Amino acid sequence: MANVNLDQLVKDKIKALKAYHVENFDCDIKLHANENSYPPPSEILDLFQDTFRTFQLNRYPDPASQRLKDVLSQRLSVSTNQLAIGNGSDELIQILIQVFCDPGDTVVFPDPTFAMYSIIARGMGAKAESFPLDEQWDFAAEPFLEKLEQTQARIVFFSYPNNPTGNCFNRGAIQKVLENFKGITVLDEAYYDFARDTFLDQLETHNNLVILRSLSKIGLAGLRVGYAVAHPAIIEQMDKIRLPYNSNTVSQELAAVLLNRFGPVKQQIDQILEQRDWLIKILSNLPELQIFPSDANFVLFRVHRSSEEVFNQLVEKGILVRDLNSHPRLRNCLRVTVGTHDENAEFVTQIKSILRSKG
Ligand SMILES: Cc1ncc(COP(=O)(O)O)c(C=O)c1O
Repeated sequence: MANVNLDQLVKDKIKALKAYHVENFDCDIKLHANENSYPPPSEILDLFQDTFRTFQLNRYPDPASQRLKDVLSQRLSVSTNQLAIGNGSDELIQILIQVFCDPGDTVVFPDPTFAMYSIIARGMGAKAESFPLDEQWDFAAEPFLEKLEQTQARIVFFSYPNNPTGNCFNRGAIQKVLENFKGITVLDEAYYDFARDTFLDQLETHNNLVILRSLSKIGLAGLRVGYAVAHPAIIEQMDKIRLPYNSNTVSQELAAVLLNRFGPVKQQIDQILEQRDWLIKILSNLPELQIFPSDANFVLFRVHRSSEEVFNQLVEKGILVRDLNSHPRLRNCLRVTVGTHDENAEFVTQIKSILRSKG
């Protein structure tokens, strides 16, 4: 038997971290994680089934994810040596920090933004430095570049559109960072399919640019597939750190099937975009709420009372959203994912009734 002092063994930097918090309430309507509420279209499910029979599950997956890379290379008009496949784009964020940061090096990102940039950086002993966004959740290039200079940043992460604020930052400011910053600029385009705005065309002229994308927001969250597009010299270094079988056979193959038959998924995305506009219009008419514009598949809003109370009342009605109140800039803010038509309608009915009741 052993009863060692585990607390003493764990690194101080890890003890100081808080785990990424994922609400796990038993709600029928899950609008908290920016997933696609629609299951894969039946036409694609049929293709999945046919593909499944061809899997050699007794064998390790293809360590190079070659078939998936071939499909992506065609879709994006990049060569396969510009691609790295991750077990979700989270893993690629981790790999990038591993490749470019020694302990004590600095990673910069606007704030508020996706929590994992900070969690991963600090978990690996890097310094996480945030740059406060303005009231429109945007930033100006000059002070941002000063921050990069002053912190001697190695990597900057931009979530484009930004999670959780929902907007795309102004392109001009990002472009200026790209032109002037001599470290690595990561454009995290996890919500690209909803904004349809990208910096992919800048790869040819900026060898320090990395684009990250994800299939989690467009229907395959359960498979964990993300990819990076970058200069081959960056991909080569990422491949040294990447675990040999980080992407499993099922994920690689089904992702390739879905990307090859994208039409039905695009229809779902179009529906989500229509629903987003509808949701924003309805919510904007409620005087108790402040709505922020969105280029993504979710909407950030502030309630003029305790967001925790509203969150809990929604849970009681079987609806799970994300409460962001713990962030000092997001007091009483909630984030709702755009779901199916029925889910959105139910959310609207319930939030209206909650707001009308005395808080
Ligand atoms: C901005 C951003 N980047 C990356 C991710 C992670 O995506 P994945 O599921 O591919 O790891 C998310 C997930 O919420 C996100 O919001």
